[in-house]
Amino acid sequence: MSIDQFTITRPDDWHLHLRDGEMLAAVTGHSSANFERAIIMPNLVPPVVTTAQATAYRDRIMSCIPDGHRFEPLMTLYLTENTDIADLEAGAHSGVVSAVKLYPAGATTNSQSGVRNFDKVIPILERMAEIGLPLLVHGEVTDPEVDIFDREAVFIDRVLDPIRRKVPGLRVVMEHVTTTNGVDYVQSGGDTIAATITTHHLIINRNAYLAGGIRPHYYCLPVAKREEHRLVLRAAATSGRSRFFLGTDSAPHPNDAKEAACGCAGIYTSINSLNCLAQVFEDEDALDQLEAFASLNGPSFYGLPVNRGKVRFTKSAEPIAFPKQFAVQNDHVTVFDPGFPLHWRHQPVHDNEV
Ligand code: NCD
Ligand code: ZN
Repeated sequence: MSIDQFTITRPDDWHLHLRDGEMLAAVTGHSSANFERAIIMPNLVPPVVTTAQATAYRDRIMSCIPDGHRFEPLMTLYLTENTDIADLEAGAHSGVVSAVKLYPAGATTNSQSGVRNFDKVIPILERMAEIGLPLLVHGEVTDPEVDIFDREAVFIDRVLDPIRRKVPGLRVVMEHVTTTNGVDYVQSGGDTIAATITTHHLIINRNAYLAGGIRPHYYCLPVAKREEHRLVLRAAATSGRSRFFLGTDSAPHPNDAKEAACGCAGIYTSINSLNCLAQVFEDEDALDQLEAFASLNGPSFYGLPVNRGKVRFTKSAEPIAFPKQFAVQNDHVTVFDPGFPLHWRHQPVHDNEV
């Protein structure tokens, strides 16, 4: 049966890059228009490594939320080999720090200060396990000998699984999972592991950026893989299984930085993620699972309450127009083009309508 309207709990975004300065001012309203809360990535330059920096960054984000929007940034610290355990613990206890992000050094945008020797961070991870603070991992090895399409699978074997064996109580989110290997690992990994899945990895495979010309606006890390992996991601996201939830990994870069001989990684989806996802879930005959993926499974893993607000999705005959790009920093940021028309829009449901 085809439906043209449904209502769900207001969604959250469990993996988001808001940047800083002018970019922060330009993009925060896109997230706050669509999401109640977001896990904010700490890969600024310099990275957010202390609770004081996370608090100051949270204040800068709050000052960019448009009037009338409600949005709660959930802050993360960038894990280094020198992370101060006492500071991290104080940040967690005061409620400022919601999670810690592990970037293998050199794995992605602004990850130079990340971890080189994983043994060095084990004492920090042990403390995090004791206080229940989740570790969010960028799950790719950086070994130049490992093919870029295999880096997630190799990370699981070489880094993630050994860490989880050494620190069994540690709660881990495999961020932006892109492979069958990742989905299987999370699936069979018990209650302490979950995964975020991005909007774009549900829609594109590696042809999107490689076939028929190089298309930098579909280039992100981890790179989109073969079609068979995309299908497994779609099955996981639409399954309703509680350990898979939405993290858009929306990552704005000016066009100049992407359309270059060495273009940087990141896809910007904050504006149209939910519209894209409604279409994906409808195509999979799984609109009834969108709420679990976008609004329920994330808070359940993080031990946070589910949002009280609701949003109603309605399907229009005419496609919805989104800007192809928007201006920022004397340049533009290109918005993700899913390659199909978007017919689902959403709006808040007011209390007196529920
Ligand atoms: C992210 C960015 O630009 O900060 N890029 C990306 O391709 N996803 C970093 C990241 O999450 O890997
Ligand atoms: Zn990211």
